[in-house]
Amino acid sequence: MTKRLTILDIQKMRDDNQPITMLTAYDAFSARVAESANVPFILVGDTVGMVVQGHDSTIPVTLDHIIYHSEIVSRVTQRPLIVGDMPFMTATTDRQSSLINAGRLMREGRVGAVKIEGGEFIAETIHHITQAGIPVVGHIGLTPQSVNQFGGFKVQGRGVEQAVQLVRDAEALQQAGAFAVVLELVPAPLATYITQRLKIPTIGIGAGAGCSGQVQVFHDVLTLFSEFLPRHAKRFVDAGTIIQDALQQYVKEVEASQFPTAEQAFNMSEAVLAEVRATIENAD
Ligand code: KIV
Repeated sequence: MTKRLTILDIQKMRDDNQPITMLTAYDAFSARVAESANVPFILVGDTVGMVVQGHDSTIPVTLDHIIYHSEIVSRVTQRPLIVGDMPFMTATTDRQSSLINAGRLMREGRVGAVKIEGGEFIAETIHHITQAGIPVVGHIGLTPQSVNQFGGFKVQGRGVEQAVQLVRDAEALQQAGAFAVVLELVPAPLATYITQRLKIPTIGIGAGAGCSGQVQVFHDVLTLFSEFLPRHAKRFVDAGTIIQDALQQYVKEVEASQFPTAEQAFNMSEAVLAEVRATIENAD
């Protein structure tokens, strides 16, 4: 049986200077292909709200949604460490309900860790959760659950004050017991500086090559939405166009009575059909 990776394996990768790849997954297909591509670290992100549910932000996602998707991703994979995202308002109200929510995600969603957005202000809660035995990934910079507060999906930490706060946030999360920190939309030199100051791995998205690892959204790297690609993502393949072409071909062949052919159909003996006919028609 394949052994599932743990937070110690992720720390070892960082200590060995081996860049860490994280990818989001939400269902059996995305989880299985991520695992077969040797992705060691999978995030069941609340981006599910945007790329699967069709919302324009992650805010409508609930804890039950993430539990549902996490359970699938955990069940169909063997090796990657699975992290479940704590959705909007599930880790920020009070310490006790945050712990209960994180516990549900771990027990019902079968994840190995949870991810929580926020810096210094949430460090006490993260300490409370990690003390209860639940590994936590922090998330600072552009935290999408606060998009309304930021006034859009914008790079964070360009000015001195904001950048200093981000360094303090990262250090507070480490101090609170987080085993990794996602840095989203942070200027690359600042992300590199934060990475150098921390002992735990940083996982960047739009934060440059100086982080200990990178995280990307499944639909972005495969271009499953061709209309919009965030600047921090790269089209590794245009699967959206390939899928679209295939589906157009399917419609065309059905409409032209070219599909299915005998190859995709199942036969029956003439004698059995004759008996079926006789039975039905004699009863008419
Ligand atoms: O929800 C998510 O997918 C994320 C990543 C983009 C880091 O938080």
